[in-house]
Amino acid sequence: MKPIVPLVIHGMSRDTILNGYNIPQEAAIMVNLWSVHMDPQLFPEPNKFQPERFLDLDGNFVKHEAIIPFSTGHRVCLGEHLAKMELFMLFVSLMQRFTFHLPEGAPEPSMLGTLRLPIAPINAPFPFELCAVPRG
Ligand code: HEM
Repeated sequence: MKPIVPLVIHGMSRDTILNGYNIPQEAAIMVNLWSVHMDPQLFPEPNKFQPERFLDLDGNFVKHEAIIPFSTGHRVCLGEHLAKMELFMLFVSLMQRFTFHLPEGAPEPSMLGTLRLPIAPINAPFPFELCAVPRG
C-alpha cells in the first residue's frame, strides 16, 4: 500500500556531476521512494487499497517494476529476502489461526501513516483496534 521507508538518505563519497547538477561531497542525497509508490501515473488512485492492481486477469500475482520498498541498485536492502520470508510467515500464521474484525462501532484504521524516527524515517500506521478471534 505504502513504502515503510519513504525516504532513503545517502552520503556522497566525492564531488560529482549528475544530469548537469554539481553535487558536492558534503551533500546529503534523499531518494524519494514515496514518490514512486504514490505516482498516480504508475498506480491510478494510489491512496486506494486495491490489491487486485497486482493481479493479472487469471488472478495471478504480477511483479510491478516500480514496487521498490527495499530500494534498488548497489545499496538495496540486505535483509530483503529475510524480511519477505518473515512477513510471509507472520501474516500466514495469523491468517491461519485467527479471523479479524473491527470492534463494535470502532472506526476503520486510517490509510494515512505517521513518520517515526527510530533510525531512518519509518512510515508506521496510526494505532487502531482490531479483534483477533481464534479459528475453531
Ligand atoms: C519490511 C522490512 C524492510 C524494509 C522495507 C527495508 C527497507 C530498506 C531500505 C529502503 C533500505 C535503504 C537502501 C538504500 O540505501 O538504497 C534498507 C537498507 C538496509 N537494510 Fe533493510 N528493510 C527491511 C528489513 C531489513 C531486515 C530484516 C534487515 C536485516 C536483517 C535489513 C538490513 C538492511 C541493511 C543492512 C541495509 C543497508 C544496506 C546498504 O547500505 O548497503 N533490512 N532497507
